[in-house]
Amino acid sequence: MSKPLDGIKIIDFTHVQAGPACTQLLAWYGADVIKVERPGAGDVTRSQLRDIPDADALYFTQLNSNKRSLTLDTKTKQGKEVLEKLIRQSDVLVENFGPGALDRMGFTWDYIRELNPGMIVASVKGFSDGHHYEDLKVYENVAQCAGGAASTTGFWDGPPTVSAAALGDSNTGMHLAIGILTALMHRTKTGKGQKVAVSMQDAVINLCRVKLRDQLRLDRVGYLEEYPQYPHGEFTDVVPRGGNAGGGGQPGWVLKCKGWETDPNAYIYFTIQGHAWAPICKALGREEWIDDPAYNTPRARQDKIFDIFAIIETWLSDKTKYEAVDILRKFDIPCAPVLSMKEIAECPSLRKSGTIVEVEHKQRGTYLTVGSPVKFSDLKVEVTGSPLLGEHTDEVLAQIGYSKEQIAELHAAKAV
Ligand code: COA
Repeated sequence: MSKPLDGIKIIDFTHVQAGPACTQLLAWYGADVIKVERPGAGDVTRSQLRDIPDADALYFTQLNSNKRSLTLDTKTKQGKEVLEKLIRQSDVLVENFGPGALDRMGFTWDYIRELNPGMIVASVKGFSDGHHYEDLKVYENVAQCAGGAASTTGFWDGPPTVSAAALGDSNTGMHLAIGILTALMHRTKTGKGQKVAVSMQDAVINLCRVKLRDQLRLDRVGYLEEYPQYPHGEFTDVVPRGGNAGGGGQPGWVLKCKGWETDPNAYIYFTIQGHAWAPICKALGREEWIDDPAYNTPRARQDKIFDIFAIIETWLSDKTKYEAVDILRKFDIPCAPVLSMKEIAECPSLRKSGTIVEVEHKQRGTYLTVGSPVKFSDLKVEVTGSPLLGEHTDEVLAQIGYSKEQIAELHAAKAV
């Protein structure tokens, strides 16, 4: 079956998470993604947090499926020539080196454009070009702190807190993938390539836009009614950490269920959606609240929201999180169990949808990974195992025009 990105050749000069997440996504959808790695070492994640001695670590395998691996030392003369050839024959180069590394290697935007005017060069950096921190190297949590996520996450009496979700890394990779696809569309109209860049700080800020909304509201009125600090607590002049409060117009909280004393995830998220008030009262057996003016509007409930949550927790005390959701779903109440990663790994629905997949790997046997979160009616995304270091070196070199003898010379010169 043909795939949407068949025929698009990508030089994948990425490492760790932000860049590899982007190119993996494009590989799932059919692009020929050639991961370029330093001979002998490769992407640092191959050996980070290993669970099987000498086998590629899960950190690597989960971010590099469906790719080919070419080892290449681009700081040697011969290695540079190979990269030049690749650039002439490819559509996109994706990189997330530290600032200036590609230029220091000799591959400036002007030079790449000279080699191939249709080339799209896509980069992840910690901060955007011209930013006063543009020279900084950045990892996930640094970006979450610089992008407003950490100052607004956690509880008000604790320190700024980072999220477990990769808002700085994979999220930036997803933004970059959108940028690359946009540039490819533009190229089909104009024939011209271009530079596409996403900074990790900007990608985090894009996901924190509702917190900027809150800052502007706070500046104007001095309080934020959906935060736990209202109406009993104090606000300063910056958006506070709101614990588990619902971020939109509907209050919500993480509530204890049966077994919470021993199971760290025996909780559900419960949302009090305004128009679901009557069903909530019915589900809880509190019909008298439905028309009670002390409860029947969001504003009336505001100052007693934690008393209401406490009553819901009493109702939940003899129900597991799954039993509770099974009851509440019948009343159309937005809610979900708090799931552990173990439960996610074992969930039959996620296996069925292809969100959690088991794939073959030459060293590991099989491994579990996250498949495509995007589902298509005309594409069944097949996730294949990540490549071994240099597994496709000779194959790629032959495809770009090197003879057997020339390939042997490149090996002898330690350029590949
Ligand atoms: N052949 C020869 N040299 C290679 C090479 C290859 N195949 N691949 C990489 N290199 C070189 C680079 O050219 C660079 O050389 P230089 O600095 O001497 O010019 C060197 O390897 C190190 O690259 P760098 O990316 O700076 O690695 P690092 O380990 O010091 O930093 C990061 C890692 C992630 C902090 C940094 O890459 C970064 O800030 N990237 C941008 C933001 C980002 O994506 N961060 C999130 C990662 S999940």
